[in-house]
Formats: sequence, structure tokens, C-alpha cells
Amino acid sequence: MKPHSRASAPAKIILFGEHFVVYDKPAVVIAIDRRAYVTAKPRSDNKIVIRSTTINASGAFTGSGKYQPIEGGWENEIRFKPIYLIAKSLLSSSNEKTGLKIEIRSLIPIAAGLGSSAAVAAASAAAIGNLLEIDLTKNDIFRLALRAEKLVHGNPSGVDPAISTYGGALLYRKSEGIKRLDIESDLPIIIGNTGIKRVTGDMVSHVNRLRNQYPTIVDKIMEAGSAIARLGVKALKSGNLETLGSLMNMNHALLCALGVSNYAIERLITVARQAGALGAKLTGAGGGGCIIALSTPNNVRRVVEAIQCVGNEAFATTKAPEGVRIEE
Ligand code: PMV
Repeated sequence: MKPHSRASAPAKIILFGEHFVVYDKPAVVIAIDRRAYVTAKPRSDNKIVIRSTTINASGAFTGSGKYQPIEGGWENEIRFKPIYLIAKSLLSSSNEKTGLKIEIRSLIPIAAGLGSSAAVAAASAAAIGNLLEIDLTKNDIFRLALRAEKLVHGNPSGVDPAISTYGGALLYRKSEGIKRLDIESDLPIIIGNTGIKRVTGDMVSHVNRLRNQYPTIVDKIMEAGSAIARLGVKALKSGNLETLGSLMNMNHALLCALGVSNYAIERLITVARQAGALGAKLTGAGGGGCIIALSTPNNVRRVVEAIQCVGNEAFATTKAPEGVRIEE
């Protein structure tokens, strides 16, 4: 066993197809240059102690799996449980009898649609696997992170752990898996954060209820979403930013029809478009979280500042080619 191991994994934006992807439609997803870092060290007892410097919380899972809060309350158990399960699973496939100290430092806004929990899960799997000297393939890391996501989100499509693991840009479909997209061009993307935290599972359940109530309508919306994602792949490959912007606007309109947008999201989208964005949409589950806007390369600053001017966090971002990686 190594004395210490550190790994990281990127955040993501969904360019096309969130929610539809839960129903086996394609989604286009891109890793961005904000990462979660996880450090793993052995402990002399059999506890798994997890600390997040991002949320100033820590807690221990005893040998029998009972949670004991250290900093912060019991509400952190559900946050840390996926990481505990990843650690347990990796410990049981190694011969090591050890406790673990796991430290999370994430630069990804939490519960904002940027896939922070999946990035933490993928980085945890890589850091712990490397510590225990287990040879994990990217697919192993994806599977471990997906299992962890299932605990947090109920019925995740798998798109978040896939992009955190593989990085770059992916076309993802539940039944077909991951297809890497080779994209040469730069994507001037701006992220605006409504600052409203929401639970992905609740938004997914909302869409599910709507689908049960109006199956013919919702199925048509989702078919339109698939057509947008397919055209989006073509536009991405040819670097046609204007088409991408129009498709993002149409994708957003479909998400509105599903009732996952709200005033805070619409406000930031309007501000971004008025500042000259080629297109803007919510990204992730909606109900709050982040919006993404696509800009021409020379207008990025204007869009960022327009969102900041109305009092919201905004930053420009670029595509991160690398997925999960061992740092040391
Ligand atoms: O908001 P996020 O980052 O949790 O993204 C959720 C994406 C959904 O399509 C709404 C759910 C899923 O599991 O794919």
C-alpha cells in the first residue's frame, strides 16, 4: 500500500439532452476546467474518516458502517455515504486491512448542475484504488462512481460519472454507452449560477410524473430533444457556433415545457442573450443550479459581466480534455 494518494476529476456541463437522457435519449456532455480533488491515506484503526474542506464537514464510518459526525451534523451522512461505499468496495477487493482518511477539496459549485458529486466519486475511486495499488481501468472507475451516484440520485442516467471519468466531450446514451466526440474547436462557454440549490432526484421525479400524466406530449418533446442532440453533434464537429447557439435555445425551450426552469434561470438566460450570447440554456437538472451560455470568442467578457451585474456568480470556462487522473 502507498502512504498517500491524490486524484482529481472534472465537472461537466450538459450541452444537450438532460432529463431526456434518463429515458434513453442521447445527451451531449462536456468536461470543464473545474475539478474535485480527493486525497486518501491509510489509518491505523478500521474507520473510514471522510472530510470535505469545501463544506467544512467531516465524519467517520466505523468498521460496522455506522456514521459518526465529527464536524457538522448527521445531514452529511448521505453526502459521504457514496464515498464510503466506494472505499468499502475497493478495500474488499484488496488484501489490505486498514482504515482510511479521505479528504475532499472540490472547486465545483455544489448542487448546481455541474456534476460535483460524480466528480468527487470518480476522484475518490481513483485515489483509493491507487492507494491500495489496485489497477483500475477507466471503466472500473465509471462503474464505481455510477453505483455511488445511484445512492444519491435514485435513477441517474450515468452521464455525470461518465464525463467525470473520461473527460473531453461525449455523446452518451444509456443503452449504447459512451461515444467520445473529437472536437477541435474552442467552445466559449459562460456559466452563470442562480445560487439556488436543488436536488436532482426531485427534478427527475417531476419529469417522470409529467411523463406519466401526458405520455404522448412528453414523448414528442423528448424526440425533439434527440433530434437537437444529433444536430448538435454535427455542429460541434464542424465548429458552427451559431447553429450550436440556436440548438441550445431550442433545447432550453423543451426543458421549460417540462417545467424544470424557473424565474431565476429565465432571468440569467435573458441577461446572457441580451449581452449577445449565441444561445443559452439551463444545464443539468434545472430548478436552480447553473445556466450555460455560448458566446463568440470576443464577447465572453461581456456575457460574464452582464450576469455578474445582476448579482450572480459567473465565469468563463473551457473544455477539459482529461477526465479522472492521478495527481500524485
Ligand atoms: O444537475 P445534475 O448535474 O445532477 O445533472 C442531472 C442530469 C439529469 O439528466 C437531469 C439526470 C441524469 O441522471 O442524467
